[in-house]
Amino acid sequence: MGGSANLNIMMKAARKAGRSLAKDFREVENLQVSMKGAGDFVSRADLAAEAILKDELLGARPTYGWVAEEGGEIEGQDPTRRWIVDPLDGTTNFLHGLPHWAVSIALEHKGQIVAGVIYDAAKDELFFAEKGEGAFVNDARLRVSGRSAMIESIFATGLPFGGRADLPETLQDLARLLPACAGVRRWGSAALDMAYVAAGRYDGFWERRLNAWDMAAGVIIVKEAGGLIEPLTPGGDILSDGEVICANEAIFSKFSKVIRGA
Ligand code: IPD
Ligand code: CA
Ligand code: CA
Repeated sequence: MGGSANLNIMMKAARKAGRSLAKDFREVENLQVSMKGAGDFVSRADLAAEAILKDELLGARPTYGWVAEEGGEIEGQDPTRRWIVDPLDGTTNFLHGLPHWAVSIALEHKGQIVAGVIYDAAKDELFFAEKGEGAFVNDARLRVSGRSAMIESIFATGLPFGGRADLPETLQDLARLLPACAGVRRWGSAALDMAYVAAGRYDGFWERRLNAWDMAAGVIIVKEAGGLIEPLTPGGDILSDGEVICANEAIFSKFSKVIRGA
């Protein structure tokens, strides 16, 4: 569980950005006077966390490429390696004082995610994985759940907000899934949803209209914890399509039949 040099760089960066966000999170509640005041403060906290991550990750690996939610894309001198970063996943939770948000960092090599770190600073849980090395939370190994009965299983998703066009599809998913399972959760951080599937806390997760930085670290953490993960439309590509479905192996085919309507 020592981890490669790159994984250590990622964990150090995630902890540093997480500490900065946690400090700002404690201020958010005092700022709830006006939504705009709090919103601007959270945007600054988000940007500050991204600046820390950029400093740490590109400082240590200046030839790598970079793509992050707030700061766009940098093509690296090394075209085969790229950091994929969401400094703050779960922004709406953060803004509302809900302690469920995370820093997410992935390393892509030749189009494949080879390492991922998701740091929940409010609960001090650091989820991480490297290709072929297993997945961990802090110093414990992660393993997806073993549940195979839909009626005992809990699934997570994201609900479309603010007039998003995919509401009808999501409502259809829920109409099919809810009668068949033990519950559906919408906790507001896709990165943590995937980490929780890896930890066996949720039995599966699906969502549409995500960005690469919401999912990249989660992809390898779920795989290394023994989960199955696919693009929602078979034959597609998770990160470029922005649609994902994942679950433990025992439930995957039942769950995906319900969600894919097949
Ligand atoms: C959001 C969260 C949320 C998901 C949204 C994302 P953000 O990321 O992952 O769970 O449903 O689609 O945009 O905006 O908090 O970084
Ligand atoms: Ca996000
Ligand atoms: Ca974000």
